Amino acid sequence: MKSEVKNYNPIARSVHWISAVVVIGMFAVGLWMVDLSYYSEWYRTAPHWHKSIGILLAGLTIFRFIWKYVTASPKVEGSAIEKAGAKLVHLAMYIALAVLFISGYLISTEDGRGIDVFNWFTVPGAGALFENQADTAGLIHFYAAWALILMAGAHALAALKHHFINKDNTLRKMIGASK
Ligand code: HEM
Ligand code: HEM
Repeated sequence: MKSEVKNYNPIARSVHWISAVVVIGMFAVGLWMVDLSYYSEWYRTAPHWHKSIGILLAGLTIFRFIWKYVTASPKVEGSAIEKAGAKLVHLAMYIALAVLFISGYLISTEDGRGIDVFNWFTVPGAGALFENQADTAGLIHFYAAWALILMAGAHALAALKHHFINKDNTLRKMIGASK
């Protein structure tokens, strides 16, 4: 049963901070790699890494979601509006991540090929499921990536505002130092 806790547990914290770094990296690499020329040494490597890390992040995010529901989380702090806003943005970030994983998969597998994760295992491709699949999914992927990064930016600013202005435990509980 869930009991009152002051901090996010160490696994939830580690997964949160690993995901944050990976998401920011994936965003930067994504924007950079689509403009690479065929003659760049990164032309094949960068998408291979982007897709491989994306699949691993998808696995980590599924684990994270389950973990969140089987373990206790500390209460969100702030006014009623802030609490509702924070929960809405947390949920919306999970949804944006899911949209990124699905659209990323659809861009990569239209031609029937699977996604080779670091030459370690291959996620099978489903081929073309609808017309213009890679283009449509690519557009969705692009907007979902921007939506996620903008929400994460607002989310980070809110965390800093709670820490430095309200001086509450919001940020501390994500580093395990709640008072
Ligand atoms: C399963 C996970 C993922 C897969 C398979 C995947 C796959 C891809 C592919 C194939 C492209 C190239 C699209 C094109 O050529 O137009 C791309 C672009 C991109 N990806 Fe991902 N991706 C994944 C997750 C993510 C995540 C988590 C982010 C984080 C924000 C992200 C951000 C981007 C960005 C910003 C672009 C550039 C979009 C553009 O400028 O058109 N991707 N991704
Ligand atoms: C791409 C980056 C990020 C994503 C996708 C993200 C996502 C999330 C999500 C979904 C939660 C809800 C708790 C959970 O489900 O584990 C959360 C909580 C939290 N995040 Fe982030 N986050 C990101 C970056 C950041 C950054 C840069 C900061 C700090 C400056 C931060 C600070 C926090 C704090 C303090 C909480 C706890 C909020 C509370 O319970 O009141 N996050 N984050």
